[in-house]
Amino acid sequence: MSRVVRKPAEFRRACEDARAAQRRVGLVPTMGALHRGHFSLIDEAKARADFIAVTIFVNPLQFAPEEDLEQYPRTFESDLDGCRERGVDLVFAPAPNTMYPTGFQTSVSVKELAKPLEGGFRPSHFDGVTTVVTKLFNLAGRCTALFGRKDYQQWKILTRMALDLDMPIELVGCPIIREADGLALSSRNRYLSASERQRALGVVSGLRDAFDAWERGERDPDALRSLTEKSVRPAFDHLDYVAAVDPETLTASPPSPDRLLIAVAAQLGSTRLIDNVVLGEDPRP
Ligand code: PAF
Repeated sequence: MSRVVRKPAEFRRACEDARAAQRRVGLVPTMGALHRGHFSLIDEAKARADFIAVTIFVNPLQFAPEEDLEQYPRTFESDLDGCRERGVDLVFAPAPNTMYPTGFQTSVSVKELAKPLEGGFRPSHFDGVTTVVTKLFNLAGRCTALFGRKDYQQWKILTRMALDLDMPIELVGCPIIREADGLALSSRNRYLSASERQRALGVVSGLRDAFDAWERGERDPDALRSLTEKSVRPAFDHLDYVAAVDPETLTASPPSPDRLLIAVAAQLGSTRLIDNVVLGEDPRP
């Protein structure tokens, strides 16, 4: 039976009590609309910890005014069922005004890693993420926190933040979970019409083409980037970026000889999808 708490102080207390009872806290921060990707994070948390806390909070700070904050799917009751079925101990589901009460004015910012890729298209997004995750980490205290690598840049930024700010948090980046046809699971996939869902596979083909070329020995980032773009561009209505960058710096330099991140963001109608593969590390998408 998952206990649901709404107040930050209750969440802090529950995590403190768990640690006092010698239980290791595993934290899975989410914005709800839970799917198999989130459940894989919960399963990994259970393998690493014995008190599992899931947070469900659609964080207004990480949405720009023109983005989909109001439309973002909110499926709290079924999220709760999913948490209960998987033996989650605690669900923290605060209201926006308890996370950001009147007078709130602090922002946490990771500089360089937040600039490329998503940062070029969603300039305030990562400050919103790092600010809310700092609050969640401060409330949870010492724990293992699990994030999906579909949001690869987010995971790298949060890892840097925890390191830079001496947070007592072990961060784990978990593999992307895909449908049978390769589409990466995302809460936003439910916005896609049947034909958009089909066209979305253009990104999977693009990443697979890069993966296969890498396996054949291609190491030129431009060639691998172009191969991906060749499939993505015609399938999507708008391409934000296809990038081939170093998986640690998220920039073109230093060029890593044995690993390369191919990252894509593109739109189908009003739905924006992201996906990625780290060549030399990840399995074929
Ligand atoms: O990845 C997400 O769902 C969100 O960005 C996170 C980490 C829960 C912060 O709101």
